[in-house]
Amino acid sequence: MQYPHLFRPLELGFATLPNRILMGSMHTGLESRPDGIERLAAFYAERAKGGAALIVTGGFSPNDAGNLSAHRAEFSTAEDSAAHRPVPRAVHEAGARIVLQLLHSGRYGFHERIVAPSAVKSPINPHLPREMTPAQIEQTIDDFARAAALAREAGYDGVEVMGSEGYLVTQFLALRTNRRADDWGGSLENRMRFATEVVRRTRAAAGRDFIIVYRISALDLVEQGLAAEEIVQVGRAVEAAGATILNTGIGWHEARIPTIAQAVPRGAFAWAARRLKQAVRIPVVASNRINAPEVAEAILARGDADMVSLARAMLADPDFASKAKAGDRAGINICIACNQACLDHYFIGQPASCVVNPRAGRETKLVFSRTRSKKRIAVVGGGPAGLSCAAHAAERGHAVTLYEKSAELGGQFNLAKVIPGKQEFGESIDYFAERLRRAGVDIVLRTSPTDADLKRFDEIVIATGVDPRTPPIPGVDGANVASYLDVLTGRVQPGRNVAIIGMGGIGFDVALYLLERGSRATLDPEAFAAHWGISEKAREANPRHHITMLKRSHTPFGHTLGRTTGWVHRAELARNGVRMIKGVEYREIDPAGVHITADGKEMLVPADTVVVCAGQDPRNEIKGNHVIGGAKEASELDAKRAMLEGAELAAQL
Ligand SMILES: Cc1cc2nc3c(=O)[nH]c(=O)nc-3n(C[C@H](O)[C@H](O)[C@H](O)COP(=O)(O)OP(=O)(O)OC[C@H]3O[C@@H](n4cnc5c(N)ncnc54)[C@H](O)[C@@H]3O)c2cc1C
Ligand SMILES: Cc1cc2nc3c(=O)[nH]c(=O)nc-3n(C[C@H](O)[C@H](O)[C@H](O)COP(=O)(O)O)c2cc1C
Ligand code: SF4
Repeated sequence: MQYPHLFRPLELGFATLPNRILMGSMHTGLESRPDGIERLAAFYAERAKGGAALIVTGGFSPNDAGNLSAHRAEFSTAEDSAAHRPVPRAVHEAGARIVLQLLHSGRYGFHERIVAPSAVKSPINPHLPREMTPAQIEQTIDDFARAAALAREAGYDGVEVMGSEGYLVTQFLALRTNRRADDWGGSLENRMRFATEVVRRTRAAAGRDFIIVYRISALDLVEQGLAAEEIVQVGRAVEAAGATILNTGIGWHEARIPTIAQAVPRGAFAWAARRLKQAVRIPVVASNRINAPEVAEAILARGDADMVSLARAMLADPDFASKAKAGDRAGINICIACNQACLDHYFIGQPASCVVNPRAGRETKLVFSRTRSKKRIAVVGGGPAGLSCAAHAAERGHAVTLYEKSAELGGQFNLAKVIPGKQEFGESIDYFAERLRRAGVDIVLRTSPTDADLKRFDEIVIATGVDPRTPPIPGVDGANVASYLDVLTGRVQPGRNVAIIGMGGIGFDVALYLLERGSRATLDPEAFAAHWGISEKAREANPRHHITMLKRSHTPFGHTLGRTTGWVHRAELARNGVRMIKGVEYREIDPAGVHITADGKEMLVPADTVVVCAGQDPRNEIKGNHVIGGAKEASELDAKRAMLEGAELAAQL
């Protein structure tokens, strides 16, 4: 066995888990949809079949005030309990256990009815919460307990009490949000009464043989959050109140230190779980950025935790656990921590899915059935769109040939993988290359197919991607001008002063690449903790380039970046003194730099090197009967769309 600690059973007293893998809670957005239960049942069943020992559902509120948004995602009535039955049933049939997460949003809810220990507004929510009366507090605790009893009736094996990430339970714990002078505020003993009472009454309501996971904030990462020794005290207190398992959560949502983004190295917070494991006797779960079996195994082998929580890793690959058990590391589709199709979807009202696995969250809709009429299919282009299409089409039983004109598969992912934090894009390429090999795809590298080559195919899929666009600025063909391609492939070494034309995702990535390449902060937990000021005062930046970023539009800087990750990029560039100018009119580029007009003033942006990141155009010189990804539409292109289009087309061919 390659991962012996990961696949050791765990004894809970009244139940035994077959391995140490917990699927972390993810609110999918399906919770409040009319067809949500059916889709959730399929979503969780697929992960249960894939070998996760214990699944935690996304958060459901135990009462009305605790809903996360105006859409009801509540578990508080007998009707809710009856409606949920298919979910635990499907998971049990697939051989796993499942607990329902009870999450009261407190001041984080996006609606008018929110309540909190004190009327203190969150910096990330426009709504002011109402201060809870003592009677409301008592009622809310009872609501948790009642929801747990209803969860038991629905067939769930337990509940997880969400006591982290800055939601209601945490709001009681921290002085930052709890200004009360009654029995629920003041001393730590008073502030943790809400948490311990929830666990105690939940235990009383749901019985002894019911799993109660308490998700503890192992690190608050905000001012006036709990200190390390207080967190340990909370852990001990919820253990004494009757919790079965202590899961960990990292950082409040309003923390300005990344906790799940690509800037966070794998397994970066296992040390915080270790601190709790040393203080309690119940099993402790490590969480965040555990996306590969060797990372999970190392955490368990070191004794940092008794279990590992994998949330997004389970979106990327529902069969993560069974593949790891079989030692099939190369067969695991690795989560690249982009948040683009999962967490970011929450903010645009779409169900969570996954960039590298578009079927996630679409289990009942995107179905890859075995074909009854095998076709010869040519896929031209081996970027994300082509890889996704070729893999799914071949797995359905078609005879697929993939033409790639360069020497390697991956398309633009080969550029992305050199950006600090995006190293894992390289893993994605390796994974898809392996998947194509296993599915028997005929891969033809260094070849742009001719009309004659393509004649023998029944279907021709064009996935030839994009070409960088060169804006019509006088001097753009000068010796000091380079494209992002030149810089990221190392063909051009920029000078000390750099101007970047264009502030989309690629412009930001190029700036980050120039400033942070060679840094260990996205790779090594210790370097990360120092970089972000967790373990010591954040180090002063010593940028090797003076960078000015320019854009024509007046929209906010970085507005096209991910909703949950853009701020990390902006913070990193700000720390390195990157200057940003918008509303720019480009007049000319000459050896001195870029001459612009901004705010009605003419000025020179001095630059030894000008890097053009000004958009892309579709590359579609070859004709076929299907066009996907960048070849179809270059504007607002990302891998999410490219992979989804590839998969959707493959499902229909
Ligand atoms: C620095 C950088 C960072 C990025 N970061 C992200 C990110 O964080 N998230 C995200 O979603 N997206 C990101 N992207 C964008 C993402 O990589 C693209 O959206 C995606 O690669 C587009 O996929 P595609 O398959 O349509 O095209 P491409 O990736 O461009 O692939 C097209 C492929 O077709 C091949 N080809 C072209 N012509 C022919 C021909 N005639 N015959 C055979 N083969 C041909 C090319 O060589 C290439 O391999 C990033 C891009 C860059 C450059
Ligand atoms: C789409 C999405 C929804 C989430 N919803 C919840 C939630 O409802 N409750 C919760 O405790 N954590 C939630 N989380 C946080 C995860 O449980 C987990 O802590 C986080 O994703 C980091 O772990 P990972 O790197 O294994 O994904 C969510 C995460 C994602 C990506
Ligand atoms: S969308 Fe990105 S972060 Fe979310 S699960 Fe998929 S790969 Fe991971």
